[in-house]
Amino acid sequence: MSELAVRIAPDAAALMRLAAEEVARRAESAVIARGRFTLALAGGSTPKGLYALLADPTDPFRARVPWRQTHVFFGDERHVPPDHPDSNYGMARATLLAKVPIPPENVHRIRAERTDPAAAALEYEQELRLVFGPGPAGAGPAVVPRGLGPGELPRLDLVLLGLGSDGHTASLFPGATALEERTHLAVATWVERLKTHRITLTLPVLGAARAVVFLVAGAEKAERVADVLQGPGAALPAGRVRPGGELIWLLDSAAAAGLRGQVEREAHP
Ligand code: 6PG
Repeated sequence: MSELAVRIAPDAAALMRLAAEEVARRAESAVIARGRFTLALAGGSTPKGLYALLADPTDPFRARVPWRQTHVFFGDERHVPPDHPDSNYGMARATLLAKVPIPPENVHRIRAERTDPAAAALEYEQELRLVFGPGPAGAGPAVVPRGLGPGELPRLDLVLLGLGSDGHTASLFPGATALEERTHLAVATWVERLKTHRITLTLPVLGAARAVVFLVAGAEKAERVADVLQGPGAALPAGRVRPGGELIWLLDSAAAAGLRGQVEREAHP
């Protein structure tokens, strides 16, 4: 059962510092414990401030993250090429990945430029199985990891997620059959409202994570946050993310405005 924590920062800038601290702290402890840090990035616009902070050479977070031992994945991707303005990978590359010393082979993007989104999802799943398989990742050609067996799940150290105004997260949208996927690690899913395909990690993978951090900012998300955390929204996609490890919601005060009762409020870090 997830260990839930809700932490509220006074404003968006403080929220990004709170999130950067979570990433840096978990990166440090993962590398000490297991020799690497596996992180799935969120898409959309909210995390841009976090990625910029992690890439900022004048801020301590950049130096704290052991980038050479870090493997980056993506919670989801739009069905566009990497240089398309909607690409989550393109956004992460521009704001973070091109600015930190992460080895290119440690960036595991979803090849959403493929015509067939299902093929892109399958290829991404195979990469997840290989990287998380037994044997040291990046051990070079001498040791080829066997890959995860059927039914085995990759255990990401940290998954960053956002919240859509309809309660979606990653590209798991309300009513999508992708929400019921229990075998594949990633799937392609048609989003009727957007008239487009997406590729997304599935709930079993999000559930296997050591920690999931939702990063939500802005008054326009307040009602949905309250829905998911305290109302009938537990059945919404974001409400169905139940990691076996830690579940942390990081909010700015605007996004937390709809919450009732006692919630941990952070002083300005
Ligand atoms: C995406 C994201 C999606 C996002 C939410 C919130 O590809 O768009 O994975 O789940 O996190 O829609 O988006 P904003 O941060 O832009 O509000």
